Amino acid sequence: MYCCDFWIIFLLFTLSPSLAVEDRFNFYQRNIFRSENRIVGGEFVDITKVPCQVSVQYLNRNTHLNTHLCGGSILNERFILTAAHCFDMIPLQLVSVYIGSNSTKENGTSFNVTHVNIHPNYKAYDYDFTILELSENITFNERQKPAVLPKNQEDIPDGALLRTSGWGETQNANESNKFLRGVEVVKINQNLCNQAYSGDITDRMVCAGFMEGGKDSCQGDSGGPLLMGNLLVGVVSWGEDCACPGYPGVYAKVSSVRQWIRNITGL
Ligand SMILES: *[C@@H]1O[C@H](CO)[C@@H](O)[C@H](O)[C@H]1NC(C)=O
Ligand SMILES: *[C@@H]1O[C@H](CO)[C@@H](O)[C@H](O)[C@H]1NC(C)=O
Ligand SMILES: *[C@@H]1O[C@H](CO)[C@@H](O)[C@H](O)[C@H]1NC(C)=O
Ligand SMILES: *[C@@H]1O[C@H](CO)[C@@H](O)[C@H](O)[C@H]1NC(C)=O
Ligand SMILES: *[C@@H]1O[C@H](CO)[C@@H](O)[C@H](O)[C@H]1NC(C)=O
Ligand SMILES: *[C@@H]1O[C@H](CO)[C@@H](O)[C@H](O)[C@H]1NC(C)=O
Repeated sequence: MYCCDFWIIFLLFTLSPSLAVEDRFNFYQRNIFRSENRIVGGEFVDITKVPCQVSVQYLNRNTHLNTHLCGGSILNERFILTAAHCFDMIPLQLVSVYIGSNSTKENGTSFNVTHVNIHPNYKAYDYDFTILELSENITFNERQKPAVLPKNQEDIPDGALLRTSGWGETQNANESNKFLRGVEVVKINQNLCNQAYSGDITDRMVCAGFMEGGKDSCQGDSGGPLLMGNLLVGVVSWGEDCACPGYPGVYAKVSSVRQWIRNITGL
């Protein structure tokens, strides 16, 4: 029962239309998708160790501040890969990207977004990909540079050591001292993961974490990178409540939409 939390919360969410949009988003984001503040087994990472990591933000209409929404990864000078579900409830014209810092508020550079390319097949939780096009080019340096893209349909071996990262921050404009955190996870066998999630794992998903639980795998927040070295294997997408052993994190599998990425970015 304990591990079924997320379905109950999903129902609660769908039955709570009276909440303000941003509260509803926050509620939804935190409980169904990945945006956890809880840190188990994670550690601070400097942005220079994950220079492809960005913060996808939206202009909060109450505070008039750009506010962390999701993680994302730099693909090249112009394009950012993040998760589609990040935009379920956010007006697309309010989206920006914050690049090159440990923090979502200081020491970085804000970029405007000119196009939000949500994957045309996105339907919760499948094809959970969005490519953001920036209004200006990113200048690369040790704090901001692109990840390496996998080949079309490239698979990585079960047990491969991966890293995911994020701020896991919520939409509280006052939480200004949050640093980027990361955690090591391992690639979980696709069939094993599919069994754990009762057949909900599609070919557009890849699982990582620890089947035995304990060390937590839900460090990264939605949209952020799952990396093998510099190779961008996945996009943080969804998963069962972090406390449950036997439910690894589920990531959108980048190699499964390689052609779509090429179509949009030329990469
Ligand atoms: C921006 O970067 C792209 C490569 O992604 C390059 O083709 C283009 O010339 C650059 N534009 C400017 C204004 O620097
Ligand atoms: C990241 O945070 C660490 C402290 O945890 C700090 O020493 C470092 O300078 C920060 N880096 C950037 C790029 O802000
Ligand atoms: C911003 O940069 C200053 C000066 O390098 C540093 O002391 C501070 O910790 C940085 N803040 C963040 C959030 O990285
Ligand atoms: C982003 O867009 C806003 C509103 O159009 C503009 O005021 C701001 O200067 C732009 N910022 C950048 C970094 O281009
Ligand atoms: C944010 O901080 C300011 C000043 O410390 C305080 O007045 C305000 O109530 C805080 N807002 C929230 C939402 O916590
Ligand atoms: C990529 O573009 C080609 C040509 O426009 C189109 O036929 C194909 O369906 C696109 N593929 C994807 C995955 O978007």
